[in-house]
Amino acid sequence: MQLIRDPAQMAAFAGAAFVPTMGALHQGHLALMERAKQLADRLIISIFVNPTQFEPDEDYSRYSRTLDADLQAAKDVGVDVAFVPDVQTMYPAEQEIPVPPLPDVATAPRLEDAHRPNHFAGVCQVMARLLDLVKPSVAVFGEKDYQQLLVIQAMVQKQADRWPGLRIESHPTVREPDGLAMSTRNANLSPDDRRVACEIYHRLCWAQHAELPGGVSMTEAEHIMAELMRYVGFEVDYAVIRDAKTLMPLKTFDRPARALAAVRLGEVRLIDNIPVSPK
Ligand code: PAJ
Repeated sequence: MQLIRDPAQMAAFAGAAFVPTMGALHQGHLALMERAKQLADRLIISIFVNPTQFEPDEDYSRYSRTLDADLQAAKDVGVDVAFVPDVQTMYPAEQEIPVPPLPDVATAPRLEDAHRPNHFAGVCQVMARLLDLVKPSVAVFGEKDYQQLLVIQAMVQKQADRWPGLRIESHPTVREPDGLAMSTRNANLSPDDRRVACEIYHRLCWAQHAELPGGVSMTEAEHIMAELMRYVGFEVDYAVIRDAKTLMPLKTFDRPARALAAVRLGEVRLIDNIPVSPK
């Protein structure tokens, strides 16, 4: 495996499969890499904790950085190139790195976009820059960050000439045995909070298992889901059932949808989502 810090050296690897990450790699990241390996002759990952996608009050400086272990794990999975730029390389003082036009799914649903107002501008800025430098034929993202996945798909569609032929692939969420979606931030949960954290998933599953008849009031179903989450001690940012493509509200439950939630447990913010269909 090659470790590359200088973007000029990336030109030789155009057309590879690409898995962008912020490091602190876990089984969720590694599953994306296993999938990506099957999609092209070469696999590139990036490890870059992107400052522009953190809100001012968020954990940019505290975000886990475990580069040596990450490089070993990437090597073991069969990654060919780890691109590990520094902040000056990605955002040079003398060059403005523009934020690409944001698609509706980054601003209209009032989900992550409402609770982290600068987040998707930062994600699109860094992803546009990474895609320009890496020039992959396919890039793989996790359903764990479902709105992010849709935002990147839409961003790439909006600028089809900029990344010709680029495909965006998704991979289902990888979970701990108790159902908690794997996440770098899970390590910050206290032991007590860790025990209840998996309830974000189980209470999302309520929406799937409840015999929600087609046509049930969405606000009612969402209200119950949010209450089920508050009951275990979560502070709920949102707990909703939305159109799976646009993430906009559904009037009635008559098509494939996505149940999504964001909750706070102590200092830690958890997000999760699952597909749901009317019975
Ligand atoms: P990061 O949080 O490191 O996640 C990198 C990729 O791994 C994303 O596509 C994310 O959805 C996926 N992922 C994380 N946990 C997962 C899980 N439990 N199951 C499946 N996939 C999972 O997302 C980012 O970094 C950044 O925003 C990035 C896209 C790299 C831009 O900076």
